[in-house]
Amino acid sequence: MKKIDLVFKDFERYLEQSAPKIPSFHPSYETALWEMVLNGGKRFRPKLLLSIVASYKPERVKSAFAPALALEILHTYSLIHDDLPVMDNAPLRRGCETLHKKYDEVLAILVGDGLNTQAFYLISTAKLKSKVKAKLVESLSYNGGIYGMVLGQALDCHFEHQRLPLEQLEIIHLNKTAKLIASALEMGAIIAQCDKKTCKSLYQLGLDLGLFFQIRDDVIDCTQSTQEAGKPTHSDGVKNSYVNLLGLKGAKKSAKLLQNSITRQIKTLNKPAQKYLNTLLGSYFDI
Ligand code: IPE
Ligand code: IPE
Ligand code: MG
Ligand code: MG
Ligand code: MG
Repeated sequence: MKKIDLVFKDFERYLEQSAPKIPSFHPSYETALWEMVLNGGKRFRPKLLLSIVASYKPERVKSAFAPALALEILHTYSLIHDDLPVMDNAPLRRGCETLHKKYDEVLAILVGDGLNTQAFYLISTAKLKSKVKAKLVESLSYNGGIYGMVLGQALDCHFEHQRLPLEQLEIIHLNKTAKLIASALEMGAIIAQCDKKTCKSLYQLGLDLGLFFQIRDDVIDCTQSTQEAGKPTHSDGVKNSYVNLLGLKGAKKSAKLLQNSITRQIKTLNKPAQKYLNTLLGSYFDI
């Protein structure tokens, strides 16, 4: 097994072992808290973070597990809320019943809230310098909060049934998805204490990658079965998606242009980062 795959495997074990133990007389609170985290997913964001740390400061990989998990659970919270009846109303996620279906909406909302807060608790208790932790909190809260993901989700839901121009759709995608993906690379750079220029380049690369990722997700909604995607597909009908605005061919063309730009940017990174990112992104580029 390749070194980086061992890191990813160790991270998955760490994630499983990190389930909070909170016994109470609530019948499902403790189980529901970590259930959607354990249900899998591609772990794209923690893998990006860990790839950067493994490239620029491999001796810090283990101490990067807590921030990588913080990122993954903040993302999982965004999915739990995204699937709620008042948002995208989805009964399936990561191949499993969504929390509001299996339990109730109250618990799904509260688990989302809880994972959001827990993300920052995890960073606060990580074995890293206080200065590094403060910067990680800044990156994750800025990109995953009111200036990023939350704004994107608000725009996405508010403008359902209303066709927006491409420039505004790009703003939605950048906020709801790309900023958190850019934060994944930036958090890796913060932990590895990369110079300012590298941090900035990685963040910019992440924005392009995140935009690519959401366009790819829009394509998946149109081309994959529910079983393949592990979530309902053909459900973006009323959304501003790249496929709805540009057609399938047009969406794929936009993705290809971004892919070329991402590939160019990866060439400016150090050798291990080029290798790890090219390997990780290989399967995603195949759309
Ligand atoms: C889905 O994210 C939501 C988007 C931002 C497109 P992922 O495709 O990373 O979902 P998981 O984590 O693998 O389930
Ligand atoms: C969700 O975008 C982005 C988030 C911030 C969760 P989508 O609504 O397209 O994600 P899926 O298709 O349900 O995974
Ligand atoms: Mg959505
Ligand atoms: Mg959705
Ligand atoms: Mg989608």
